Amino acid sequence: MKGYFITFEGPDGSGKTTQIGLLKDYLKEIGFEVVVTREPGGTSIGEAIREIILDSAYGEMTPVTEMLLYAAARAQHVDELIKPALESGKIVLCDRFVDSSLAYQGFGRGLGIELIERVNKVALNGINPDMTFFFDLDPKEGLKRGQARGEGVDRLELESMDFHQRVYDGFNGLCLRYPDRFKRVDASMGIHDIHKETINRILQLLKDKK
Ligand code: TYD
Repeated sequence: MKGYFITFEGPDGSGKTTQIGLLKDYLKEIGFEVVVTREPGGTSIGEAIREIILDSAYGEMTPVTEMLLYAAARAQHVDELIKPALESGKIVLCDRFVDSSLAYQGFGRGLGIELIERVNKVALNGINPDMTFFFDLDPKEGLKRGQARGEGVDRLELESMDFHQRVYDGFNGLCLRYPDRFKRVDASMGIHDIHKETINRILQLLKDKK
Protein backbone atom coordinates (compact mmCIF):
# COMPACT_ATOMS: atom_id res chain seq x y z
CA MET A 1 0.00 0.00 0.00
CA LYS A 2 1.46 3.36 -1.02
CA GLY A 3 -0.34 5.56 1.52
CA TYR A 4 -0.33 5.82 5.28
CA PHE A 5 -3.14 4.82 7.59
CA ILE A 6 -3.15 6.58 10.96
CA THR A 7 -5.86 6.05 13.56
CA PHE A 8 -6.77 7.97 16.72
CA GLU A 9 -8.16 6.29 19.81
CA GLY A 10 -9.00 7.20 23.37
CA PRO A 11 -11.87 7.87 25.73
CA ASP A 12 -14.73 10.14 24.77
CA GLY A 13 -13.66 13.78 25.11
CA SER A 14 -9.91 13.11 24.83
CA GLY A 15 -9.39 15.73 22.10
CA LYS A 16 -8.77 13.41 19.12
CA THR A 17 -10.98 15.34 16.75
CA THR A 18 -9.27 18.69 17.38
CA GLN A 19 -5.86 17.14 16.81
CA ILE A 20 -6.94 15.40 13.61
CA GLY A 21 -8.02 18.79 12.22
CA LEU A 22 -4.65 20.36 13.07
CA LEU A 23 -2.71 17.44 11.57
CA LYS A 24 -4.72 17.56 8.39
CA ASP A 25 -3.84 21.23 7.86
CA TYR A 26 -0.18 20.60 8.63
CA LEU A 27 0.20 17.55 6.39
CA LYS A 28 -1.56 19.30 3.49
CA GLU A 29 0.73 22.27 3.89
CA ILE A 30 3.79 20.06 3.48
CA GLY A 31 2.34 18.57 0.32
CA PHE A 32 0.43 15.41 1.21
CA GLU A 33 -3.04 14.47 0.10
CA VAL A 34 -5.01 13.82 3.26
CA VAL A 35 -8.34 12.12 3.88
CA VAL A 36 -10.04 12.66 7.24
CA THR A 37 -12.70 10.21 8.27
CA ARG A 38 -14.30 8.66 11.34
CA GLU A 39 -15.92 5.56 12.75
CA PRO A 40 -18.61 4.61 12.96
CA GLY A 41 -19.24 6.51 9.72
CA GLY A 42 -17.14 7.74 6.81
CA THR A 43 -19.57 6.50 4.12
CA SER A 44 -23.32 6.98 3.59
CA ILE A 45 -24.00 3.45 4.78
CA GLY A 46 -21.61 3.85 7.70
CA GLU A 47 -23.27 7.11 8.79
CA ALA A 48 -26.69 5.44 8.60
CA ILE A 49 -25.44 2.58 10.78
CA ARG A 50 -23.95 5.16 13.15
CA GLU A 51 -27.40 6.69 13.68
CA ILE A 52 -28.72 3.31 14.80
CA ILE A 53 -25.77 2.44 17.02
CA LEU A 54 -25.61 5.73 18.92
CA ASP A 55 -29.37 6.31 19.27
CA SER A 56 -30.12 6.31 22.99
CA ALA A 57 -33.63 5.03 22.19
CA TYR A 58 -32.16 1.57 21.51
CA GLY A 59 -31.31 0.61 25.07
CA GLU A 60 -32.16 -3.03 24.32
CA MET A 61 -29.30 -3.48 21.83
CA THR A 62 -27.27 -6.59 22.72
CA PRO A 63 -23.47 -6.51 22.85
CA VAL A 64 -23.21 -8.87 19.86
CA THR A 65 -25.56 -6.74 17.74
CA GLU A 66 -23.53 -3.69 18.68
CA MET A 67 -20.26 -5.40 17.73
CA LEU A 68 -21.62 -6.56 14.37
CA LEU A 69 -23.01 -3.13 13.51
CA TYR A 70 -19.62 -1.50 14.17
CA ALA A 71 -17.96 -4.22 12.08
CA ALA A 72 -20.50 -3.80 9.25
CA ALA A 73 -19.91 -0.05 9.13
CA ARG A 74 -16.16 -0.75 9.12
CA ALA A 75 -16.34 -3.25 6.24
CA GLN A 76 -18.04 -0.64 4.05
CA HIS A 77 -15.61 2.05 5.20
CA VAL A 78 -12.53 -0.03 4.37
CA ASP A 79 -13.65 -1.11 0.92
CA GLU A 80 -15.35 2.08 -0.21
CA LEU A 81 -13.02 4.72 1.20
CA ILE A 82 -9.91 3.67 3.13
CA LYS A 83 -8.44 1.09 0.77
CA PRO A 84 -8.79 3.19 -2.41
CA ALA A 85 -7.30 6.22 -0.63
CA LEU A 86 -4.29 4.23 0.56
CA GLU A 87 -3.81 2.66 -2.85
CA SER A 88 -3.60 6.11 -4.38
CA GLY A 89 -0.92 7.16 -1.87
CA LYS A 90 -2.97 9.37 0.44
CA ILE A 91 -2.64 9.77 4.19
CA VAL A 92 -5.82 8.61 5.91
CA LEU A 93 -6.51 10.04 9.37
CA CYS A 94 -9.29 8.10 11.03
CA ASP A 95 -11.09 9.12 14.23
CA ARG A 96 -11.45 5.67 15.91
CA PHE A 97 -11.05 2.33 14.19
CA VAL A 98 -10.89 -1.36 15.09
CA ASP A 99 -9.14 -0.72 18.43
CA SER A 100 -12.32 1.00 19.62
CA SER A 101 -14.17 -2.26 19.01
CA LEU A 102 -11.50 -4.14 20.95
CA ALA A 103 -11.70 -1.69 23.86
CA TYR A 104 -15.46 -0.96 23.95
CA GLN A 105 -16.98 -4.26 22.83
CA GLY A 106 -14.10 -6.58 23.77
CA PHE A 107 -13.30 -5.14 27.20
CA GLY A 108 -16.20 -2.79 27.97
CA ARG A 109 -18.96 -5.22 26.97
CA GLY A 110 -16.88 -8.23 27.96
CA LEU A 111 -17.09 -10.02 24.59
CA GLY A 112 -13.35 -10.68 24.70
CA ILE A 113 -10.61 -9.62 22.36
CA GLU A 114 -10.44 -12.91 20.37
CA LEU A 115 -14.05 -12.73 19.18
CA ILE A 116 -13.71 -9.09 18.16
CA GLU A 117 -10.50 -9.83 16.25
CA ARG A 118 -12.06 -12.82 14.50
CA VAL A 119 -15.14 -10.92 13.34
CA ASN A 120 -13.20 -7.84 12.34
CA LYS A 121 -10.70 -9.79 10.28
CA VAL A 122 -13.46 -10.03 7.68
CA ALA A 123 -14.25 -6.31 7.91
CA LEU A 124 -10.60 -5.20 7.71
CA ASN A 125 -9.94 -7.05 4.46
CA GLY A 126 -6.18 -6.95 5.04
CA ILE A 127 -6.02 -3.29 6.06
CA ASN A 128 -4.31 -2.37 9.33
CA PRO A 129 -3.25 0.97 10.77
CA ASP A 130 0.41 1.93 10.30
CA MET A 131 0.23 3.98 13.48
CA THR A 132 -2.37 4.38 16.23
CA PHE A 133 -2.39 7.25 18.71
CA PHE A 134 -3.87 6.51 22.10
CA PHE A 135 -5.03 9.77 23.67
CA ASP A 136 -4.52 8.88 27.27
CA LEU A 137 -7.03 10.65 29.51
CA ASP A 138 -8.82 9.59 32.69
CA PRO A 139 -12.29 8.58 31.48
CA LYS A 140 -13.93 10.68 34.22
CA GLU A 141 -12.17 13.74 32.88
CA GLY A 142 -13.21 12.86 29.32
CA LEU A 143 -16.89 12.60 30.18
CA LYS A 144 -16.69 15.88 32.07
CA ARG A 145 -15.20 17.59 29.01
CA GLY A 146 -18.00 16.16 26.87
CA GLN A 147 -20.64 17.49 29.23
CA ALA A 148 -18.95 20.88 29.32
CA ARG A 149 -19.25 21.05 25.53
CA GLY A 150 -22.99 20.60 26.00
CA GLU A 151 -23.29 17.86 23.39
CA GLY A 152 -26.22 15.47 23.45
CA VAL A 153 -25.49 12.23 25.25
CA ASP A 154 -25.33 9.15 23.01
CA ARG A 155 -26.07 5.52 23.94
CA LEU A 156 -22.43 4.69 24.75
CA GLU A 157 -21.93 7.79 26.89
CA LEU A 158 -24.92 6.75 28.99
CA GLU A 159 -22.93 3.72 30.20
CA SER A 160 -21.69 3.47 33.79
CA MET A 161 -18.33 4.74 34.96
CA ASP A 162 -17.34 1.08 35.44
CA PHE A 163 -17.88 0.50 31.73
CA HIS A 164 -15.76 3.50 30.77
CA GLN A 165 -13.06 2.42 33.20
CA ARG A 166 -12.95 -1.07 31.59
CA VAL A 167 -12.68 0.56 28.16
CA TYR A 168 -9.79 2.69 29.42
CA ASP A 169 -8.04 -0.34 30.93
CA GLY A 170 -8.65 -2.10 27.61
CA PHE A 171 -6.86 0.64 25.69
CA ASN A 172 -3.93 0.40 28.09
CA GLY A 173 -3.82 -3.34 27.46
CA LEU A 174 -3.79 -2.74 23.70
CA CYS A 175 -0.82 -0.36 24.05
CA LEU A 176 1.10 -3.22 25.66
CA ARG A 177 -0.13 -5.80 23.15
CA TYR A 178 0.84 -3.74 20.10
CA PRO A 179 3.79 -1.64 21.30
CA ASP A 180 5.15 -0.93 17.80
CA ARG A 181 1.94 0.44 16.38
CA PHE A 182 0.56 2.28 19.44
CA LYS A 183 1.83 5.72 20.45
CA ARG A 184 0.56 6.97 23.76
CA VAL A 185 -0.13 10.71 24.02
CA ASP A 186 -0.74 12.43 27.34
CA ALA A 187 -4.09 14.03 26.48
CA SER A 188 -4.01 16.29 29.54
CA MET A 189 -1.28 18.38 27.84
CA GLY A 190 -2.13 21.59 25.99
CA ILE A 191 -3.34 21.53 22.38
CA HIS A 192 -0.04 22.80 20.96
CA ASP A 193 2.15 20.34 22.84
CA ILE A 194 -0.01 17.44 21.70
CA HIS A 195 0.11 18.74 18.14
CA LYS A 196 3.91 18.92 18.21
CA GLU A 197 4.19 15.40 19.56
CA THR A 198 1.82 13.88 17.02
CA ILE A 199 3.60 15.66 14.15
CA ASN A 200 6.96 14.30 15.27
CA ARG A 201 5.63 10.75 15.46
CA ILE A 202 4.05 10.98 12.02
CA LEU A 203 7.15 12.49 10.42
CA GLN A 204 9.11 9.57 11.86
CA LEU A 205 6.61 7.12 10.35
CA LEU A 206 6.83 8.78 6.93
CA LYS A 207 10.62 8.52 7.08
CA ASP A 208 10.66 4.90 8.28
CA LYS A 209 8.11 3.62 5.78
CA LYS A 210 9.76 5.23 2.74
P1 TYD B 1 -18.36 9.55 18.81
O1 TYD B 1 -19.33 10.63 19.09
O2 TYD B 1 -17.71 9.50 17.48
O3 TYD B 1 -17.31 9.50 19.99
P2 TYD B 1 -15.99 10.34 20.20
O4 TYD B 1 -16.29 11.75 19.86
O5 TYD B 1 -15.69 10.10 21.62
O6 TYD B 1 -14.99 9.68 19.29
O7 TYD B 1 -19.11 8.18 19.11
C1 TYD B 1 -18.58 6.97 18.85
C2 TYD B 1 -18.86 6.08 20.02
O8 TYD B 1 -18.83 4.73 19.59
C3 TYD B 1 -17.83 6.21 21.13
O9 TYD B 1 -18.47 6.17 22.38
C4 TYD B 1 -16.99 4.97 20.96
C5 TYD B 1 -17.92 3.98 20.38
N1 TYD B 1 -17.31 2.95 19.51
C6 TYD B 1 -17.39 1.61 19.88
O10 TYD B 1 -17.93 1.28 20.94
N2 TYD B 1 -16.86 0.65 19.05
C7 TYD B 1 -16.27 0.97 17.85
O11 TYD B 1 -15.80 0.07 17.11
C8 TYD B 1 -16.20 2.36 17.48
C9 TYD B 1 -15.58 2.76 16.18
C10 TYD B 1 -16.74 3.32 18.34
